[in-house]
Amino acid sequence: MVNFPYQFILPVLGISDPEQIKCLDPLRFDPHIQRLHELNRAGRADEIGALLHYLLSGLKDTGSLSQEECVAVMRDLGIFMGILKKMGFEPVQQHPALLPVLCSIANRTAMPPRDTLLHYTLWNPDNERTRSYTGAGDELDLIRSVKMSYPDLLLAIIMLDKLYISSFVGEEFKSTCDVIRESISSMIDGIVHAKRNVSPAFFANELRFYYDPIIVDRPEPYMGPGAVEMPMFLFDHILWNCDLEDEQYNAFKESFLPYNFEFVRKTYMYYKGKPSVWSSVIKNLSEFPSVETLKAAEAVLDFSYILKGFRKPHKRLADQSYAYKQDFNRATGSGGYSVDILDKIMDLQTSRILVLQEAIKSARKQLT
Ligand code: HEM
Repeated sequence: MVNFPYQFILPVLGISDPEQIKCLDPLRFDPHIQRLHELNRAGRADEIGALLHYLLSGLKDTGSLSQEECVAVMRDLGIFMGILKKMGFEPVQQHPALLPVLCSIANRTAMPPRDTLLHYTLWNPDNERTRSYTGAGDELDLIRSVKMSYPDLLLAIIMLDKLYISSFVGEEFKSTCDVIRESISSMIDGIVHAKRNVSPAFFANELRFYYDPIIVDRPEPYMGPGAVEMPMFLFDHILWNCDLEDEQYNAFKESFLPYNFEFVRKTYMYYKGKPSVWSSVIKNLSEFPSVETLKAAEAVLDFSYILKGFRKPHKRLADQSYAYKQDFNRATGSGGYSVDILDKIMDLQTSRILVLQEAIKSARKQLT
């Protein structure tokens, strides 16, 4: 992980300090985590419902909670909803008392009326206070694998944004590229951690069902807290595809916007239709061919290879996990997409990086 003072940078982006949220327990769920796991293992939906109502009855009016407390309540209700959904219930239909609480928190936090990946990972406490559906080591390690990459992914996005407005030459440009390389590499660390510690069979036949979409306040479901919600799509957007016209891929990226921070939504819209970093580098090389612009292009290409380093093993992990699935009708992930979308993204990325590689190759020839 990059050693970076996130506690200072996140408030500037309008993001509450995750460490503060992790400490909060306004639903008073802490003493009941183990019990919930036991009830889940035993399949006792009625008792899970009773525990949920007991906790809701002790909750203060959401209007009197701070924004951080609202986030913590949503995080904990999400665990109940995921378990009930896996048991075959629509949680809000089965427990209508949830609806006003979910909607009020959604209003207060400008997030959907359900939990997201942020609640499940970045805002989830560590150690014995970690909220999980099962308490199983594999699940805790999946949570850890996202926790170890998420903050650095945010840093990579911030630095890429900084890179975009720079002059695309010089030492500062190069050192920004180095920080991006280091921070985006944490995505690979996350995949390596998941590969080593999350059994594909356990994921395929147990975990993934907790991340299923649920119905809340409209006929269309809200998707569950899967890693697909990570703003990796925003990093890609700025780096190589905000100027790409591909209906399916653009719909894919935009489907995750509501589940992300406001800063992610705003940054996405700001870049939409603008030339990407790769396009700008290529234009720079052709308009101002020089050793300086070539060095800058090489520095961008260098950290861009990390994308492949993340996506190839991630695809293998997804393939392995889905190969174990026992229900042949269910081939989609938490985002509602099948593993094929991963090939599609890799194909688009490869075709675009080839253009950058070609531009660098011909600039090298021209300048030597
Ligand atoms: C057992 C572990 C995992 C499996 C089986 C898995 C599976 C999948 C699948 C099937 C998708 C496609 C879309 C969808 O979900 O609807 C996806 C997307 C995605 N996953 Fe995972 N995943 C796993 C772990 C992780 C981890 C640990 C990370 C990050 C640290 C991650 C990050 C992503 C991202 C960013 C996407 C969006 C597509 C992309 O940018 O390439 N996944 N995953």
